[in-house]
Amino acid sequence: MLGFEGLSWQCASGLLTCLSGADRSDSVPHPKPQFEELDYRQTPLGELILRRRTILALENREVHEIILGEAYLMSSLYTAVETALSNLGLAAVSGYSALDVVVGGLGLGYTARTALEHEAVRRLFVVDYLKPVIEWHEQGLVPLGKGLTDDARCEFVHGDFFELALANDGGAGFDPSGELQKFHAVLLDIDHSPQNLLHQRHGSFYAADGLRRLAAKIHPGGVFALWSDDPPEASFMDALTEVFAVCESHVVTFENPLRDSDSASTVYVAKVAE
Ligand SMILES: C[S@@+](CC[C@H](N)C(=O)[O-])C[C@H]1O[C@@H](n2cnc3c(N)ncnc32)[C@H](O)[C@@H]1O
Repeated sequence: MLGFEGLSWQCASGLLTCLSGADRSDSVPHPKPQFEELDYRQTPLGELILRRRTILALENREVHEIILGEAYLMSSLYTAVETALSNLGLAAVSGYSALDVVVGGLGLGYTARTALEHEAVRRLFVVDYLKPVIEWHEQGLVPLGKGLTDDARCEFVHGDFFELALANDGGAGFDPSGELQKFHAVLLDIDHSPQNLLHQRHGSFYAADGLRRLAAKIHPGGVFALWSDDPPEASFMDALTEVFAVCESHVVTFENPLRDSDSASTVYVAKVAE
């Protein structure tokens, strides 16, 4: 991915910048860097990098990318399914005019921003385990940061989504003030899929017992929705069906401009009985 021909890497003041073209004398305008490392942190999940990239093949389109260890966590080039997660999840909630919503995994903020575009959303708690990700938004280092921090309905929660989802009644919850114990929608985009996890300790959440604990935190008629990079999985649908009254999987296709073809991911939507 990083091995483009004709690129040279420069490291200055802790910022790694990849430049196109050999000459950077002061007499010529500096070309736009093709890769710019905006932040680098060691985290409990591995090395975390926020990078801005200019894609020549897409008329110098600028994208932000989060890389965790060896894995791409999020790119602003692909946001259709992150957006669909909010839209499909919130559309399925029935019986309420004001919604209290949890988003698991802030990333670059597309799921959260889409949720806030729904006027019915009264409060939004966005839980992220990695403090630097929250700081990027608070400092305006990522494009959607200011919009999220300026919206009084939106609160960032630094914590482990799975620990909060599995907590017993009366334990720590998604609302740090403890005022709200139940929510109308929980929208989750953290692991690559229910089988392909960022960390093995997340595994128990995706079995029926874990999902049951989450469902207890959702109002009647409320919804749990999940992003997955894999096609719909029968075993996960079985676990959802054990717990929720209505379960669906939606295959969302989107254009992949770098491949000139379509890609697809899955959004599961599971609804608590009314
Ligand atoms: C794929 S990104 C989310 C992308 C997001 N939907 C968007 O629209 O940009 C996954 C996020 O989950 C966070 N994360 C990883 N493990 C977590 C955990 N146990 N609890 C909460 N957040 C976690 C990562 O820091 C990352 O910000």
